[in-house]
Amino acid sequence: MKDRLKVGIVGARRGAGHIRPFTTITETEVTAVCDLNEDTLHEVGEQFGIPKRFTDYEEMLADDIDIVVLGTPENLHVPQSISGLEAGKHVISEVTAATSIEQCYELVRAVRESKTKYMMAENKCYTRSGMLIGNMVRQGLFGDIYFGEGEYLHDIKVLHHDSSGNPTWRYYWQVGINRCNYATHSLGPVMDWFGERVVSVCCLGTGVRTDPEHAMEDTVMMLCKTKSGALIKIRIDMLSNRPANSYLSLQGTKGCYEGTRGLGDIEKVWLADYHQPGQWQALADFEEEFLPESWKNPPEEAVKAGDVTEEYFEMRGFVDSIINDTKPPIDVYDAMDLTVPGLVSEESLAQGGKPVEVPDFREID
Ligand SMILES: NC(=O)c1ccc[n+]([C@@H]2O[C@H](COP(=O)([O-])OP(=O)(O)OC[C@H]3O[C@@H](n4cnc5c(N)ncnc54)[C@H](O)[C@@H]3O)[C@@H](O)[C@H]2O)c1
Repeated sequence: MKDRLKVGIVGARRGAGHIRPFTTITETEVTAVCDLNEDTLHEVGEQFGIPKRFTDYEEMLADDIDIVVLGTPENLHVPQSISGLEAGKHVISEVTAATSIEQCYELVRAVRESKTKYMMAENKCYTRSGMLIGNMVRQGLFGDIYFGEGEYLHDIKVLHHDSSGNPTWRYYWQVGINRCNYATHSLGPVMDWFGERVVSVCCLGTGVRTDPEHAMEDTVMMLCKTKSGALIKIRIDMLSNRPANSYLSLQGTKGCYEGTRGLGDIEKVWLADYHQPGQWQALADFEEEFLPESWKNPPEEAVKAGDVTEEYFEMRGFVDSIINDTKPPIDVYDAMDLTVPGLVSEESLAQGGKPVEVPDFREID
């Protein structure tokens, strides 16, 4: 067998979560890890037995690796993606892809010029129930779909300063700008169901209430119009005092889906072809007939490693695109479709909710 593709991870905290899938995948091995923080670097290096350790990303790029995985702060994703591509590495970047529109242009141009692959790692596009619903949508069970919701409610004020009280990257890039930051987890699965891009957004917020130190309003609500005129409602809140929840919903002419709101709630559907009016049924009851093959009969390598996870499917898709020289499942244009609505929402918020166009980066020079 040909040598395995060598993987280097940069940003060893979230990045460590990507070591397991690349260990499970037969054609890859993690050979290098890089982090500015030496304690984190060696802790992760020891835990996973990774031989090569770097504190300098450029030095890791000069090493014999084929794939780099970016688990670094959001503002570093574009510069590190570009250096990775220029060094001839395949790049998979954590979310979000970019923190400004200028960075989006730079990234798209770099990917176009590169011979290697780029993918954004939006793991929420690979969840069991999200993929089940996607298949049910494609089989027509919901009819013509026209409304979806995604909420990311996660009080992470504790992560906005480090243990010495200094602001972290999240302080600046997640809650330091008033816009619908970090919306890709919510948009990802919903946009997969719709199978089309968002063309404009309107955004309003609640005002700054809980933590006056931050520019981002506590809850920011972004209404997205898709190409066919459907509506997606995104609510992001990383500041309010409350238990965490990630809620999704979908409405079509023949059915609807509602995610969970906590306290033992279950995911449920109503489908005109199956149910009386007003009768809910557990989504899980539809798994036998509609769960996609990947989750139903996962590859042997994943079963053997006990790693049948969204992260495994995500990385397996990326590696397959490298081996077969095909489009990565979430290529740079898909990454823009998921990232840019949140970036341009800043302009809408500043103008009292005015609709703002979401540029299609496939069309830029
Ligand atoms: N997909 C998900 O579910 C998910 C979950 C959590 C975080 N994330 C994403 O992962 C990324 C990292 O988040 P986190 O929570 O691990 O952040 P973190 O602040 O806990 O960790 C970032 C790590 O990167 C290191 N680092 C910073 N700059 C570096 C550089 N120039 N070179 C090498 N190492 C550097 C830091 O020392 C730190 O160890 C973010 O983009 C975040 O959005 C995604």
